[in-house]
Amino acid sequence: MDIGIGLFGLGTVGSGVVKILQDNADQIAKRTGTHLLVKHAVVNNLEKKRTGFINNFPITNDAKDILNNPEIQIVVEVMGTLDQAYKIIKDSLTAKKHVVTANKDLIASRGQELVAIAEANGVDLFFEAAVAGGIPILRTLANSFTADEISRVAGIINGTSNFILTQMTTNKLSYANALQLAQKKGFAEADPTNDVAGFDAAYKLIILSNFAFGVQPALDDLTINGITHLTDADIEDANAFGYAVKLLGVAQRVGQDANAISIDVSPYLVPFTHPLATVHNENNAVLVNGESVGEIMLYGPGAGELPTANSVLSDLTNIATDIALNTPGRPFNSFNQNLDIAKPSQ
Ligand code: NDP
Ligand code: HSE
Repeated sequence: MDIGIGLFGLGTVGSGVVKILQDNADQIAKRTGTHLLVKHAVVNNLEKKRTGFINNFPITNDAKDILNNPEIQIVVEVMGTLDQAYKIIKDSLTAKKHVVTANKDLIASRGQELVAIAEANGVDLFFEAAVAGGIPILRTLANSFTADEISRVAGIINGTSNFILTQMTTNKLSYANALQLAQKKGFAEADPTNDVAGFDAAYKLIILSNFAFGVQPALDDLTINGITHLTDADIEDANAFGYAVKLLGVAQRVGQDANAISIDVSPYLVPFTHPLATVHNENNAVLVNGESVGEIMLYGPGAGELPTANSVLSDLTNIATDIALNTPGRPFNSFNQNLDIAKPSQ
């Protein structure tokens, strides 16, 4: 069975998606029983030279080429932006096209609304790549804790800031040079402010809280501190006392009956002996504490072309399998537990 794909964005993640689709086409066909074929890609700048993959599909800057194409059953949104991406995803779902996105900003702020639109139209909306790049954390939370109770989800969930902190520590790069290198490697957002100010991690923590605790926090419910105010001296002092400085996102149950959660993103002092201290460069790691399982840690590349594209591909192949088995419209989140959200103290 052929399944048509429309791609919004051919940057770091989009090119990775095309490469994997082309390089692993036979394997994907064997495992899903479908052929995933890119029919059209939408970009911003039609003049840009695109290398690294075989461009055997038309490139346009008109969204209608994808939205109005009846051969396209799955839309992949990997262009970023808020309002434009919202409209594209909403229009795609309403047109009964499945959607895969890596857009954490959008899912954290309007994900519930879009999930409801997907459900109403009997199509899938998956976003594994939106949190922790190549680490399959959302499917793990959605599928592996049905019989357990999660008490905390915490970790390093922004690759750019972890890359900067690592480079400042190990290679003694300046903050500005380390950020520039992270941008060159494709880890940073188009505007890296969200990476270094803690907002990118905050968006991901909102999504993680939704999957782990069934809650939908707003940005105002979080304490958010980034790494912009950290100096070389802060990091050297911490190291001298046996600590690494890591930007962590932490969502955990609090209160007498543990019926509320607190959520914060801040730089933490992590003892060198703790596994999180060994997570370097763009790698991420997420600790999940459950009553039965105890503590697990998922570790891997938190940003970058092929690792992130692999998460997009995991969504794509799940949808392809759903289409082949005629079982689309699967929910992709956890259970509502009616927990309160503790407001940050002023
Ligand atoms: P890039 O900036 O590398 O690529 C963005 C792509 O989208 C480009 O092809 C660009 O076109 C296109 N684009 C941007 N704006 C528009 C628009 N208004 N209309 C049409 N096309 C547009 O971004 P990334 O690939 O790094 O990131 C894409 C998404 O994936 C973002 O939501 C990001 O947060 C998310 N993400 C990124 C990760 C990473 O490691 N980079 C990891 C996890 C998630 P053109 O090529 O012409 O400029
Ligand atoms: N800019 C993000 C990061 C990309 O550095 O973690 C992955 O979401």
